[in-house]
Amino acid sequence: MRDAAVVVTGAGGGIGAALARRFAAEGARVVVNDLDPDKAKAVAGEIGATAVPGDASGIVPAAREALGGTIDVYCANAGVGTGGGPEAPDEAWELAWDVNVMAHVRAARALLPEWLERGSGRFVSTVSAAGLLTMIGAAPYSVTKHGAYAFAEWLSLTYRHRGVQVHAICPQGVRTDMLDATGKAGDLVLRPGAIEPEAVADALLAGIAEDRFLILPHPEVAGMYATRAGEPERWVRGMNKLQRALENETDSQEAGPR
Ligand SMILES: NC(=O)c1ccc[n+]([C@@H]2O[C@H](COP(=O)([O-])OP(=O)(O)OC[C@H]3O[C@@H](n4cnc5c(N)ncnc54)[C@H](O)[C@@H]3O)[C@@H](O)[C@H]2O)c1
Repeated sequence: MRDAAVVVTGAGGGIGAALARRFAAEGARVVVNDLDPDKAKAVAGEIGATAVPGDASGIVPAAREALGGTIDVYCANAGVGTGGGPEAPDEAWELAWDVNVMAHVRAARALLPEWLERGSGRFVSTVSAAGLLTMIGAAPYSVTKHGAYAFAEWLSLTYRHRGVQVHAICPQGVRTDMLDATGKAGDLVLRPGAIEPEAVADALLAGIAEDRFLILPHPEVAGMYATRAGEPERWVRGMNKLQRALENETDSQEAGPR
């Protein structure tokens, strides 16, 4: 990673900041992007990186310029944890689609000509275990993370023989602001096994060393994914049990202390 030109979106905090710190520690030249300029500048200042604030959807040209004309590794990490179901307003669904999927598509569109001409490049997608499984209480998040996974997989199978490596990181709970915002559902399914953002960075670096597509910072997700594929009825029944546990917990809390 020494001297590699690396971009990390949504790197003003959480997993993105941990990725940026880790790449900088490995000797990479890093661009720190975040929608929040103060957060981007704070992380960039701490690690000797360059801040390129703004919506992750359109930052490739500015990031490329800040890195001297080329990008070696692009981490599409910014994401929104939109909750709710079909009742969530269209604007909420559209934001989830835009940030969790289309920002990756637009970045790939801007990066691929350079990478294909050179015969090398690395696209890292911070998906989620919700992209392989689901997240109770959060339909827009579950649906768009499936989209992010599908896109990363498609990129990988289409361009790997032309030198473009793709990694899909699919963690369960990670101790960040996003986890704190998931409320009761997060407390039930994510918090018990939650890991630190630095562990996600470790898993990514290990995956990069092997050019591995699927990065599972929680290895047990592989078994759940296999159950979902092989025993879909059992899988849905099991997840419904969790949904009911969530409803019971919410009901008993609404009833107040007994
Ligand atoms: N925390 C978890 O439990 C968890 C688990 C699996 C996957 N993820 C995924 O990891 C990624 C990072 O999440 P996190 O937990 O670090 O969350 P976080 O909320 O701590 O950080 C996300 C950052 O992205 C920024 N951001 C949001 N929209 C943006 C946009 N359009 N352009 C640029 N920046 C934007 C936010 O300002 C924030 O600083 C997300 O894609 C998330 O879905 C998180």
